[in-house]
Amino acid sequence: MKIIIINGPNLNLLGRREPDIYGNVTFEEYYKILQEKFPNVELEYFQSNIEGEIIDKLHDVGFDYNGIILNAAAYTHTSVGIGDAVKSIQTPVIEVHISNIYTREKFRHQSYIAPNVMGIIAGFGMQSYELALLSILE
Ligand code: DQA
Repeated sequence: MKIIIINGPNLNLLGRREPDIYGNVTFEEYYKILQEKFPNVELEYFQSNIEGEIIDKLHDVGFDYNGIILNAAAYTHTSVGIGDAVKSIQTPVIEVHISNIYTREKFRHQSYIAPNVMGIIAGFGMQSYELALLSILE
């Protein structure tokens, strides 16, 4: 079972960035816990602040991995390119957000990813990633 977590822009700053919204745990710390919890899953992690790199990664993994957990961060609300990439691949994608984007500013209510994903998990803090993982395993 091969699953990749892809994080978009500014998520490299988790733990330091707006901790009232995103918490004070770094993604590396959280990822370690996730790996320990799911030792039988071949878990991978990729983060980029660059839209094209996220698209390239989706192309790379999108035909033979079992699942993609995608937090495209701000690109969720702007990127037709990432939306099209998700539509173009075969691996199921779960859209994830740490915060509940629907209780925040209006521009965050729009997602170019959502129409082409298997499901969306938002608002459960870092646990959103674990819930996405469980949904792929189920
Ligand atoms: C986010 C929500 C986005 O609106 C924001 O731009 C992010 C993080 C989240 O995980 O809650 O960078 O995707």
